[in-house]
Amino acid sequence: MPRLPKVKAPPVPAPLRTPPPRPSEENGKVTAGDHAVEAGITVVDWIDERTSLSGAGRWLLFRKVPKGTNWFYTLGSATMFAFLSQAVTGVFLAMYYRPDASGGAYESIRHVTNDVFLGQFVRGMHKWGSSVMVVLVFLHMGRTFLFGAYKYPRELNWVIGVVLLVLTLVMAFTGYLLPFDQRAYWATIVGVNINGTGPLLGPYLSDFLRGGGEFGATTLSRFYSIHMLLVPGLIIALIGAHLYLVTKLGTTAPPWEKAENSADLREAKA
Ligand code: HEM
Repeated sequence: MPRLPKVKAPPVPAPLRTPPPRPSEENGKVTAGDHAVEAGITVVDWIDERTSLSGAGRWLLFRKVPKGTNWFYTLGSATMFAFLSQAVTGVFLAMYYRPDASGGAYESIRHVTNDVFLGQFVRGMHKWGSSVMVVLVFLHMGRTFLFGAYKYPRELNWVIGVVLLVLTLVMAFTGYLLPFDQRAYWATIVGVNINGTGPLLGPYLSDFLRGGGEFGATTLSRFYSIHMLLVPGLIIALIGAHLYLVTKLGTTAPPWEKAENSADLREAKA
């Protein structure tokens, strides 16, 4: 039987006995801050080892962006932050709001505005924030349209965007009724009646929104549930899909960059 040659085992590196000094250890002291920083890193490492989330984070955040990317590309993120602000302020308003059509709804809003600490501020942020979100979503849609970002391969993201636009408008419409004052009541009756004039589905839609033939207590609780549960849930899921596609496909270069490139190509061909 042939004998195998003897192989020398590679030297095992000596364990690192002295860890590098911490910045504040140089004078012999370990501060509470050092412990806190180290504990934070250990926790993050511990979670990352078990989830590999840092890989997903890198995939999401470290991307190449096309030449010519400009401030108009921030409109999508601005819309998202407007939505997050609405979600946070909405949670605080929901702590006090009562969807009671016999005066309780109006009274709970009056209480938030006049008595609760920072209540008027939070309510104001939510109220103005809804208009801000509607304006931003339209501007973002305009940007993606004018930059041709709806074309192949981003058609699906455009369609998801259209659903997000409709859902944003549903949020604004259903939220308007919640104070249940005269303006909210009559404006929503007009809105529901306009929906009723739609072809084929219109009458069913307005019946669904009213919760029957009459506008009253059922309508208010239905609007509240749509406003704070159904539509935000859908929006969160669709923003997730929207951002997944943005990360996967990347963003579109501005049209003038494309024109420059195709002119270059034509010149190169000629
Ligand atoms: C809640 C509403 C929405 C949020 C939070 C949102 C968020 C975003 C973000 C953060 C981006 C990447 C950055 C940017 O290009 O601005 C993006 C891209 C995009 N969005 Fe939206 N969006 C929303 C609604 C819409 C609407 C209404 C449309 C169109 C109907 C739309 C179509 C697109 C398209 C096509 C892209 C890809 C842009 C590109 O490739 O350059 N989005 N969106």
